Formats: sequence, structure tokens, C-alpha cells
Amino acid sequence: MDTVLLSDSEANLLKAAKLIKDGNIVGIPTETVYGLGADASNEAAVRNIFAAKGRPADNPLIVHLADFSHAVKYTSSIPQLAYRLAERFCPGPLTMVLPKNDSIPMVTSGGLDTVGIRVPSHPVMHRIIELSGCPIAAPSANTSGYPSPTSAAHVMNDMNGKVAAVVDGGESEFGVESTVIAIEGESTVRILRPGCITREMLLELCDEVIIDHAILNELAAGEKAASPGMKYKHYSPKADIVMVEGDLDSFIDYVSKHDPENTFSLIYDEDGEKFPYRYMTYGGTSLQQAHLIFAKLRELDEIGAEKVFVRAPSKDGVGLAVYNRLIRAAGFEVIRI
Ligand code: TXA
Ligand code: MG
Repeated sequence: MDTVLLSDSEANLLKAAKLIKDGNIVGIPTETVYGLGADASNEAAVRNIFAAKGRPADNPLIVHLADFSHAVKYTSSIPQLAYRLAERFCPGPLTMVLPKNDSIPMVTSGGLDTVGIRVPSHPVMHRIIELSGCPIAAPSANTSGYPSPTSAAHVMNDMNGKVAAVVDGGESEFGVESTVIAIEGESTVRILRPGCITREMLLELCDEVIIDHAILNELAAGEKAASPGMKYKHYSPKADIVMVEGDLDSFIDYVSKHDPENTFSLIYDEDGEKFPYRYMTYGGTSLQQAHLIFAKLRELDEIGAEKVFVRAPSKDGVGLAVYNRLIRAAGFEVIRI
């Protein structure tokens, strides 16, 4: 299949929307990461998404809508708290897991009776949903297991020849995928995947926010995942990633004792001046680190890095999202010094 790279002109957005309506898959930009979009109600199209990514069939897709008010068409009930959260955070990087109805096929929900609903804020994505008139199922547009794409070039790298088109909407603003939550009872939120809508932001609208155990911990053999995505190896570049937690001096000391001439380090912007070995930086603040992390992991592969020490990010606020992606990229290999 020839994959066409489209600019974000209105004529091209119409083209992309028509491709989706006709049952094709298209790479589309969102404010979090790029997605691989298809009509969520078209089973054949959704199967093609799983095939293009090499994604396990039990890992559900998020359904993207132009407005949260449309969620009633695809769900069987919506708690009051969901409406309050939607009022504050939609459109934006939040996905709410809600009970689905029959208009969402089981292929889309990975066999679950729930569906993740998200209303993206990226104007290109928003326009494509509107023009297609479809609920759009879209996982991140990477090959399964590889870091998520934050540019059209990343998507072309993974999906060229496998999808009908990729729409270039510029670099993704946030850089990590949406915060995925489930609602429990009247006023409790469980975070299934951390993102740029943080625990603190959610706490402004409910009584309790639980950080699911699997966000920072490897699931034990046989343990059931609240979100299927958490049980798979994720975000891993080819390089062997080791996360090292500690201050800069201890980090330097650790690297110095572990073959520094043949390794790369991924460190904070401000560490660069003092760092004596080969390195790349991934921002200073947590928001910057979220924006850069996936692009840097891909870049490390491009330069052929084989072993990479990453200076662990903070776990506060948006930092938790960065930490969650890195600990998976590292296969849970964390050195605490
Ligand atoms: O920001 C995002 O969410 C991006 C953009 C494209 O919107 N999409 C994305 O999709 O990250 P994906 O498929 O790569 O990740 C979705 C995650 C998976 O870990 C999946 O297991 C979880 O959300 N998920 C989806 N539906 C779910 C459900 N019904 N119950 C529990 N977890 C669900
Ligand atoms: Mg993904």
C-alpha cells in the first residue's frame, strides 16, 4: 500500500475523513501523541489497526469524539462525575473508561464491556472527527511496543506502507498519551495510565484519586490488569535502557563505573554542563520531559545507542507520566543510588 503524507489543509482533512469513513486507517495528529485512526464501529477497519501495529487483540482502543455530549451514543451509562470531569478537561488529554453499549464492537474494546472515551483538543484531529461523522478508534500510531510517535515523521517511520495516509499536524504538544481513568462510586477516580491531567488536577473535582498499582509496579504473573495496556512491554527502543534514580553526582559516579565509553546517558538539561560522558538531554521541567521523552528514545536508536542510562524523572505531577513511560522502556530495571 502507498502511504500518502498529507498537509493539514482543509481539502486534505476532508480527504483523510473520507478515507476513514470508507474503512481505511489514517495516521492523525493529536495534542498527546499521533494516533492510528479508523471508524470505531467498522470491525474490519479496527482489525486492520491491530494488524498494522502488531497489537494484541485484548488491548482495547480509545474512541475519540468531537464532543463529550456524543458519549451517550456509545455508552450505557455515564456517572455524574464523568460530566463534571468532562466540563473541566474535555477537550483535552483525558480518557474516561465507561460502560459501553452495542454500537462499539467487541473488537474495538478488546473484548471488554467498557470503552475509553476521549475528546481530543488538537484542531486537526477535531476537524477530522467532525468531517468523518464517525467515532474514531485510535491507538498511538507506533508499532506495538515501540515509543509512541509525536511527529508525522515518526508515524511514517513505523507505518509507511501499512496505512492509507498520514496527516501532518506538527509536533504533538504534550508528548505523552492521555491520562486514562476509571470512575469508582460517586466520587473516586482511579488513574490507570498517568498523563498531563494529573492526580492533583483530578482531586479538584472528586474526593479521592487512586494511582493504580500497575502504574509504577510490574504486574505479577497471573495478576489481572485494570487496563490491559499495563501488562505489555512498552515504549521500548532497541537500546537497553536502565533508569538510575539519584542526584547528579551519584548518577555520574554510577555511570563512571559502568563502561562510560560505550554507553549513552539521557539527563536533564541543567545536568549537561557537569556531565563528563556522552549524553543527550530531555528537558528540565516535567512538562518539557513529557514533550521530549518519546522523540529522544527514538533518537537514541537512530544514533545506534546500545546501552542507555536515564536519569530518572521526578514522580510529581506530570513527572509521574514520564516516570511511568520510562520504567516500562527500561523493563522495570531501576537502580536506586
Ligand atoms: O493520548 C492518547 O490516549 C492516544 C491518542 C492517539 O489519543 N491514544 C493512545 O491509545 O494512547 P493506546 O491504544 O496506545 O493506549 C490506550 C490505553 C491502553 O493502555 C489501553 O489498555 C487502555 O488505554 N484502555 C483503552 N480502553 C480501555 C478500557 N475500556 N479499559 C481499560 N483500559 C483501556
Ligand atoms: Mg500506545
